[in-house]
Amino acid sequence: MDRNLALEFVRITEAAALACAKHMGRGDEKAADQAAVDAMRKAFDSVFIDGTVVIGEGERDEAPMLYIGEKVGQRGPGAPSIDIALDPLEGTTICASGGVGAIAVIAVAEKGNFLHAPDTYMKKIACGPRAKGLIGLDKAPEENIRIVAEALGKKISDVTVVILERPRHEELIARVRKSGARIRLIGDGDVSAGIAPCWDESGIDLLMGTGGAPEGVIAAAGLKCLGGDFEGQLQFRNAGERERALKMGIKNPDQIFKLDDLAKGSVMFCATGVTDGPLLKGVRSLPGNRGATHSIVMRSHTGTVRRIEAEHNFNIKYQV
Ligand code: FBP
Repeated sequence: MDRNLALEFVRITEAAALACAKHMGRGDEKAADQAAVDAMRKAFDSVFIDGTVVIGEGERDEAPMLYIGEKVGQRGPGAPSIDIALDPLEGTTICASGGVGAIAVIAVAEKGNFLHAPDTYMKKIACGPRAKGLIGLDKAPEENIRIVAEALGKKISDVTVVILERPRHEELIARVRKSGARIRLIGDGDVSAGIAPCWDESGIDLLMGTGGAPEGVIAAAGLKCLGGDFEGQLQFRNAGERERALKMGIKNPDQIFKLDDLAKGSVMFCATGVTDGPLLKGVRSLPGNRGATHSIVMRSHTGTVRRIEAEHNFNIKYQV
């Protein structure tokens, strides 16, 4: 995948983050999400790609923009043909409440290389590079924690597991606590939390629990770039969702998907912070109608991780 595209994608996530950050803490999730979607959709138009959204805002009939199957980019002869997994605002509630870890995110792969995950749930486990290949959803939570502790050279009591605070995780939370490990409960945002174990300074060693399946694919792309590991298994709420997965081309809906089943080949991951989180600083408003963003862009092919801090002058650009 062309490395020159990396900066183009940062511009797109920056535009989405800047737009929704205007709604940060205002309690209106819909407005925040809409602002991010509009800005991201518009920003795609200036990029010379032949892109197809494979993980997006939903089905065509429920999402007017950035829906699954939508073509984005300038296109035309010579434009690289790529698949895109995106979330213009990952953590709508976080943004609306001014919480921790909302991001605007895009992951990119060559055609056909992302799992076409339906909008259902996914049981997930994610870890950093040192425990790669060792953890798995076929193991008990206690066993995975023990493995991570050993791989990191830590006591179990020093291992921190991040889990979405949901009633469905009651048993998991009890078991993790009983194992001796610590838990960081989060209200939302398991993409940035899932990637966090790749950074020692995040204070997070492992992600466990069930969250959105589309978010699982996006997190897998990020973890691939950072040398971490991820497994996911779809969790269906009803027969219709299972049927939908089959229709989307998933042969075995009960399969435990490994990192490469979710994000094959060379992938790129790009995110801009909306609010402060384990991965990125949030958008800052600066005097003189300016703003600052903090983004990360990474490619699995080279393992390069770029952090990009940018100052934007709204008198000239964006007019937000
Ligand atoms: P949104 O940005 O779509 O609100 O998703 C936030 C999120 O917390 C994801 O990070 C997570 O995967 C999913 O929702 C969990 O779903 P639910 O809130 O239904 O438990």
